[in-house]
Amino acid sequence: MKRTHIRPLSEAEVRWLEKGLKNLGFFSKLKVSQLASIIPYMTVGDCAKGHVVVRQGTQANRLYLIKKGKVDILRSGKRVAALGAGQFFGEMALLFKQPRSATVRCSAGCVLLSLGNSDLRRIMRQNPSVGRQLKKIAERRRLELEQMS
Ligand code: CMP
Repeated sequence: MKRTHIRPLSEAEVRWLEKGLKNLGFFSKLKVSQLASIIPYMTVGDCAKGHVVVRQGTQANRLYLIKKGKVDILRSGKRVAALGAGQFFGEMALLFKQPRSATVRCSAGCVLLSLGNSDLRRIMRQNPSVGRQLKKIAERRRLELEQMS
């Protein structure tokens, strides 16, 4: 089954987010109360191995955090990177206002948390340091993609 099943966050996932978001570079500057205010805007999806979460060239409206599992980043069919638990993807298209730069496919069963573009923009407005950190990572990834193509 290669479907995404969207469901409400479990209590354990809310606790993981409260602790885990603190360790995600770009969220680490937020206070616990600010983190808590993001959580209601997050959705969670269970994806099977092989599921394509994001397709290169398509329009974007969400950012994803990997709670569990692994994904491959594929540029024109070629694997350029792999990401795992605690890492995120889907920020480039939102920040640079461009189509998805690569395809992201689950290389194992995944639990993915996601945040919509408008919520991300609001968080960045309220916490400019979050936006700065996110942009730094996105720019580094863009450079890597350019160097590889
Ligand atoms: P986006 O362009 O929205 O969709 C594809 C995603 O793949 C992209 O955002 C990044 O999150 C991710 N990505 C692209 N290039 C790299 C890279 N070199 N290393 C890690 N992740 C990447």
